[in-house]
Amino acid sequence: MAANWKMHLNRREAKTLVEDLLKAIDGTSNEVLICPPTLLFDTVQAACKGSKVATGVQNMHFADKGAFTGEVSAEMVKEAGAGYVIIGHSERRAIFGETDEMCAKKVLQADAFGLVPVLCVGESLQERESGSTTKVIDTQLNGSLEGFTPTSGDRLVIAYEPVWAIGTGKTATPADAETVIKHIRERLSEKYGERIANSVRVLYGGSVKPDNVDELMAQPNIDGALVGGASLEAESFARIVNFQVHAK
Ligand code: PGA
Repeated sequence: MAANWKMHLNRREAKTLVEDLLKAIDGTSNEVLICPPTLLFDTVQAACKGSKVATGVQNMHFADKGAFTGEVSAEMVKEAGAGYVIIGHSERRAIFGETDEMCAKKVLQADAFGLVPVLCVGESLQERESGSTTKVIDTQLNGSLEGFTPTSGDRLVIAYEPVWAIGTGKTATPADAETVIKHIRERLSEKYGERIANSVRVLYGGSVKPDNVDELMAQPNIDGALVGGASLEAESFARIVNFQVHAK
């Protein structure tokens, strides 16, 4: 379960949130990732020390270094202790003009520095309504993974986030999310073979909350969630981490 805090919280709030969360998820064997704003990364990293919670950042540049005002490099991210980097979040694509080509360079750079890319893909409402969801997903997957071959399934995470479901309170139905994620896994299988495709974590993201996580996680191809709003409170994110799937 991955938390994307986006541009929220201050240092004190971040520390308290992690401390409360660690208490609330004590004993879980589920994998947890927290991606705070970059300037709060060290606080979160320190607060997670000694726990199994992994940490990541929400973006980075693809170049080694250079005149890129405001950016951070993979080396900086790695040195700070991060294990993961979110790449191509729809907010980065829509607001900051990130293209699949840029995402592909970031994926390769992340991998070169031993960071696991969490690559986000997803269609807009218009694209869904015009029936082009899978075409959009295929274009994003092919473009953003261009030139990248993970050596094992744990070197890549994909997050399927339909743009219309992010921060809107609208969630894809578990069946719709499953359909697209199954499609993603089939594409990964074509690219990388079944063994790797089956072990890549494919997450669903978009208004995941305590009251819908169980149903989503009951779907066979959904391995976890990328959570924005509901990751900003310890209690709700802990409930998501501690999701419950009942055998049918
Ligand atoms: P949300 O955000 O859970 O607030 O919809 C998800 C995301 O953008 O990763």
